[in-house]
Amino acid sequence: LKQDRFAFKKVMFNYPTRPDVQVLQGLNINVEKGQTLALVGSSGCGKSTVVQLLERFYDPLDGELVSDSL
Ligand SMILES: Nc1ncnc2c1ncn2[C@@H]1O[C@H](COP(=O)(O)OP(=O)(O)OP(=O)(O)O)[C@@H](O)[C@H]1O
Ligand SMILES: [Mg+2]
Repeated sequence: LKQDRFAFKKVMFNYPTRPDVQVLQGLNINVEKGQTLALVGSSGCGKSTVVQLLERFYDPLDGELVSDSL
C-alpha cells in the first residue's frame, strides 16, 4: 500500500445496471501502510468490486472511502 492508510467505512454498492444485486452491504476495511490485504471469498462475492471502488472506477452508493493521499 502506497498510501499511509485507507479505509472503507460502511460501504454500500451495487452496479448501476443491476440495482437488484446488492454487492457490498456495509463493508468495513482498514489497512495501514506496510500491511497486505487479501480478499478471499466465493465467486461473485465482490472481491473485484472492492478493487474497482479502490481505483475510483465507481463511487459508493453510501458510506465512504478514506485515504490519506487522495
Ligand atoms: N460490471 C458489472 N455490472 C453488473 N454487475 C456486475 C459487474 N461486475 C460484477 N458484477 C456482479 O457483482 C457481483 C460481485 O462481482 P465481483 O466481480 O466483484 O465478484 P468476485 O468476488 O471478484 O468474483 P470472482 O471470484 O469470480 O472474480 C456479482 O453478482 C457480479 O455478477
Ligand atoms: Mg473477481
